[in-house]
Amino acid sequence: MNKILVVHGPNLDLLGEREPNVYGKDTLENINSLLQKEAEKNNAELKIFQSNSEGDIVNFLRDNRKWAEGIIINPAAYTHTSVAIRDAIKALNIPTVEVHLSNIYAREEFRQKSLISPVAVATISGFGKQSYVLALHGILSLISPR
Ligand code: DQA
Repeated sequence: MNKILVVHGPNLDLLGEREPNVYGKDTLENINSLLQKEAEKNNAELKIFQSNSEGDIVNFLRDNRKWAEGIIINPAAYTHTSVAIRDAIKALNIPTVEVHLSNIYAREEFRQKSLISPVAVATISGFGKQSYVLALHGILSLISPR
């Protein structure tokens, strides 16, 4: 079983009601169960975490560093501001895929800069909830090439 952390950043707990024209109508629960099903089909084990606090995200990554073989993270607004999350990902040295529901490069200028992308193996942005599914397939193909 490949062990993957799935981290959702701030305000993603409001998915479903939050700007559905941008982020879709699915709740975070829907997205997590979609991911869980996909993980089962692909022999992967997930630990899923959401937080609105930067430090909690850093601590979660740190606390699971011995367990995880890969990380999928939507850092949400922290994508554009968080040196702390970037440094944590760099420090852990575990392959990390950055995910966004929306295409951040087609939005406001302040969203077009990611502090996370340079420390990620890949970034998937703009496929809505499927961004997470693609990230899961991508990280698994990196960890256990078939
Ligand atoms: C987001 C894009 C970010 O700019 C924004 O702050 C979010 C969600 C996305 O998934 O499209 O909260 O990461």
